[in-house]
Amino acid sequence: MASMKRIFSGVQPSGNLHIGNYLGAIKNWAPLANEYDCIYCVVDWHALTVFQKPETLRENTYNALATLLAAGINPEKSIIFIQSHVKEHSELTWILNTVTPLSELEKMTQFKDKARKHKENINAGLLDYPVLMAADILLYDTEAVPVGEDQRQHVELARVVARKFNNLYGETFKEPQEIIRKEAARIMSLSDPSRKMSKSDNDSAGCVNLSDSPDEIRDKFKKAVTDSGKEIRYSPAEKPAISNLLAIYSGFSGKPINEIEAKYKNAEGYAQFKLDLAEIVVSGLADFQKKYGEFRQNNKFLDEVAKTGAEKATLLAEKKMEAVNKRIGLA
Ligand code: TYM
Repeated sequence: MASMKRIFSGVQPSGNLHIGNYLGAIKNWAPLANEYDCIYCVVDWHALTVFQKPETLRENTYNALATLLAAGINPEKSIIFIQSHVKEHSELTWILNTVTPLSELEKMTQFKDKARKHKENINAGLLDYPVLMAADILLYDTEAVPVGEDQRQHVELARVVARKFNNLYGETFKEPQEIIRKEAARIMSLSDPSRKMSKSDNDSAGCVNLSDSPDEIRDKFKKAVTDSGKEIRYSPAEKPAISNLLAIYSGFSGKPINEIEAKYKNAEGYAQFKLDLAEIVVSGLADFQKKYGEFRQNNKFLDEVAKTGAEKATLLAEKKMEAVNKRIGLA
């Protein structure tokens, strides 16, 4: 175990999780446990950067935990925990704040986007969010971070912060690498393929939630916008809508995109492709949804998983903070 490289990733309990979260990130996490020592976190402190109703946040935190378990992450093998249960994340954030250049934070695309969308609540946490994320990652000597494309810049910042700290105080943190799966890295909205599928946008037609019923899924794919022409070909620049549908098809079927293109080479249009895709997603989610329903009815079990996970994470985090505090003269 000790010789295995460390993976860390997280998901915000800030709304309904969708097939973008699933294909771009969560679905890939369970298999990594065969090669890595994995830690997966429900990042509730991150979610607070946009106002959450307390009872909804509590509910969404359980939902996210159940999602990780239903996606096959085994809590006996990997650490699963809730961020706010391990206080060292906030302790390290403060310390990293003091070595993070403000200019780096102001450059972050997601900060600029969210500041535009939430003009009424551009809080300091929104700007500082990537430092909390750097703390999540660096606290566990993480080697690799499996995420979607939208998190690439934040993992880069974690490297910058690690380097800054190491230069000032001596080698303390590992510089993490992102793991980004090429095709599913950025699943787009079904109603507007120029926009990322997102849990925070008000785009229910364009966003397929992991909790959607088979009929809702069928309906969303039926109504999904397509490109002009009738050729089923992967070309994000020329055919953004069809390329997105192909990426989803590939993600759920496990088939490479060129194989799917070949299957529909003689198609007379998009209709059959969209019908088939909906069935692939429905059946691809069936097992997940069954397990999710079971976990979601068992808060006692979810509480136990979170408690054990936090205990295991705390042991690692305390040890790291001891080393960090020594380095900077706080201990
Ligand atoms: P979050 O909660 O927004 O998303 C969870 C994961 O889903 C990926 N993702 C997508 N992938 C493909 N297509 C999409 N449309 C799509 N939308 C979301 C995200 O890239 C992410 O991997 N800041 C992070 C959570 C976090 C974290 C961390 C991640 C906090 N600390 C430390 C890794 C390491 C976030 O907001 O993810």
